[in-house]
Amino acid sequence: MRIYCEKDYATVSRRAAAVIAAQVVSKPDCVLGLATGSTPIGAYKQLVEWHKQGDLSFARVRSVNLDEYVGLAPTHDQSYRYFMQDNLFNHVDIAPENTNVPDGLAAGTLAECARYEEVVRGLGYADLQLLGMGRNGHIGFNEPCAEFPVATHLVDLTQSTIEANARFFASADDVPRQALTMGVGTIMHARNILVVVNGADKAEAVQKAFAGPVTPEVPASILQLHPNVTIVGDEAALGGLR
Ligand code: GLP
Repeated sequence: MRIYCEKDYATVSRRAAAVIAAQVVSKPDCVLGLATGSTPIGAYKQLVEWHKQGDLSFARVRSVNLDEYVGLAPTHDQSYRYFMQDNLFNHVDIAPENTNVPDGLAAGTLAECARYEEVVRGLGYADLQLLGMGRNGHIGFNEPCAEFPVATHLVDLTQSTIEANARFFASADDVPRQALTMGVGTIMHARNILVVVNGADKAEAVQKAFAGPVTPEVPASILQLHPNVTIVGDEAALGGLR
């Protein structure tokens, strides 16, 4: 496990973007596993800047996103498809047909989970999977539970996640109660994993995930068993690992 402890969000974002850019430069047709949430926004901004400067091309990159809310259209400004368009895809040269996000409006959620898992498997899984972390240690939308979920599946969001994500909606009542997410098994198939964490409110989750026992009660703790994990965070988030 490689840990980069940076001084603030700007340097966290630049470091995370550098890890992603290194993957794209070394394998231009790589499969990038992408994440949403507020944490990776700075890294996406940096990637867009490098692209605009002519230093980075996504023309051959394929992408797979971790998750999507059930019931939100791609045009809804809180859907994860919208987030990806707005923060990255609309500003770089990635081919739209090479970007994949679960379909939150699919009529049959189980069929959609199977389809999406097959898309990720068919691409050979991610070369690099970017992950943020929920305050309860969730990755993607794999919430604390009794067993690690293997493949893409439908989840009921926990109250803590609904409350944490309510800041993006008019009220907590507007936060979808369910989501589709890659499973922990899907994520663990990635050849490299980049975890980005920022701020004191992630410190406890980081400490439990990387310095505690491996347990599905802290989904990110499974990453201790992955051979190629890089963690980039600020001192507030990483303090518990010292
Ligand atoms: C959501 C996403 C996760 C993300 C988490 C943390 O629940 N499904 O992929 O890591 O939020 O978000 P933030 O970075 O805003 O703290």
